[in-house]
Amino acid sequence: MPGGHYQVRSPKPRHSIYSLTDSSDVGPEEEEVDDVTPRLTPLEKLTTDMCKDETTIKELIIGRRVGFYKVRGEIGCGTFSRVKLAFHALTKDKVALKILDKTRLDSQAHRLLSREIHSMESLQHPNVVQLYEVVETPSRLYLVLEYAGGGDLHNHICSEGKLSDSASKITFAQVLSAIKYMHNMNVIHRDLKAENVLFTSSGCLKVADFGFSKRVSNRSDALDTFCGSPPYAAPELFKDESYLGPPVDVWAMGVLLFFMVTGTMPFRADTMGKLRRSIIEGAFTVPPWVPGPCQRLIKGILKPVPAERYAIDQMLGCDWLLPVEFPWVLFPSEPASPVGSLLDSEGLDEEEEEEVRSSLEELGFTTEHLRNNHLKDSRSPVTGVHRILLHRARKRRGCDSLPVVRGMVRDPKREGLRAYRGLRHTSKLCVVS
Ligand code: ADE
Repeated sequence: MPGGHYQVRSPKPRHSIYSLTDSSDVGPEEEEVDDVTPRLTPLEKLTTDMCKDETTIKELIIGRRVGFYKVRGEIGCGTFSRVKLAFHALTKDKVALKILDKTRLDSQAHRLLSREIHSMESLQHPNVVQLYEVVETPSRLYLVLEYAGGGDLHNHICSEGKLSDSASKITFAQVLSAIKYMHNMNVIHRDLKAENVLFTSSGCLKVADFGFSKRVSNRSDALDTFCGSPPYAAPELFKDESYLGPPVDVWAMGVLLFFMVTGTMPFRADTMGKLRRSIIEGAFTVPPWVPGPCQRLIKGILKPVPAERYAIDQMLGCDWLLPVEFPWVLFPSEPASPVGSLLDSEGLDEEEEEEVRSSLEELGFTTEHLRNNHLKDSRSPVTGVHRILLHRARKRRGCDSLPVVRGMVRDPKREGLRAYRGLRHTSKLCVVS
């Protein structure tokens, strides 16, 4: 790492020992050359502080800093992890830091964690929480994630009631876009639920938590692990059989859609046995006031037989979503090249590339840093800063803008149906056979 002492930028122009001026021409004031140490770049200053500055070193030891990130308060927690807000020390961008205590993870949790990282590394989409970097210490693993500060869909509906028809369209269209993309990238989420649907402060939806996800070599691969939250689980998951990944995510989308438009869950029961039975029977009732096109979509999705269930493209083409316009042409849901291509610089347009390169340069990253780092290794801080800056450039170009409902009329009285006030759903995992 580069060393040296930090110097505050001098307002004086730098004219120093490197000047070509003959010293005999230099008057006495000009001989007061006090700024001979090269000015440090922000990167040099940070890396020097991380090695030499007592406060910074102490912060690194007590976990107030992790790699290039300054850690703030807790914003969430799960079975094996906590999530804290953090800032990149150089770019100042907010990130969500998912913290895992390695000493508490058994071999299965380790396997799931590797899958989570493996799945997320391949994904880059406006409606999927992005993985920026992975930082590992002897006792902990940190996933540095895109920050979505607008809360989650479950809390939103529990506190504000069901969504209006147009808000449901806008929300569901974004989930659909994310899942279509994931499936095209051969990633099955397996834990889709309102708690894992986050919003940014500008209202853009981000599907999160890939802890139960699986990257398959082929979408028709059979899976055999029960994952997810029981109220969102497809009927085939309750049978001791293998299952196909995509229809399981589709079913969970049906439950999610029902929850959005009614504020209640389609399958409710006071015991797991009864819940299982009602899901297997596919016994649910859509309230009559739900618009017909939306009712038809829900019924097309919540079909107990996976082969009869709507496929993603049927959902995209349904009448209910006809008035929805997706804004991002920049992010095709079908990548031209295989998995991972969207994280390569190949996917960048020239303007974005220039913007990112110049920001990296300002921070002190040299072409050498970039050459030595292929920007694919999630465990490199260079990859982290590159992905953050790239994401920022894309956001500036509107990749986080919301779909538009053509001919949308704002719903002035959003009925606050409070019927569903259930606890947050916990996800489970158990291996079948
Ligand atoms: N909680 C869990 N993941 C999060 C994220 N990416 N942003 C904000 N809060 C979160």
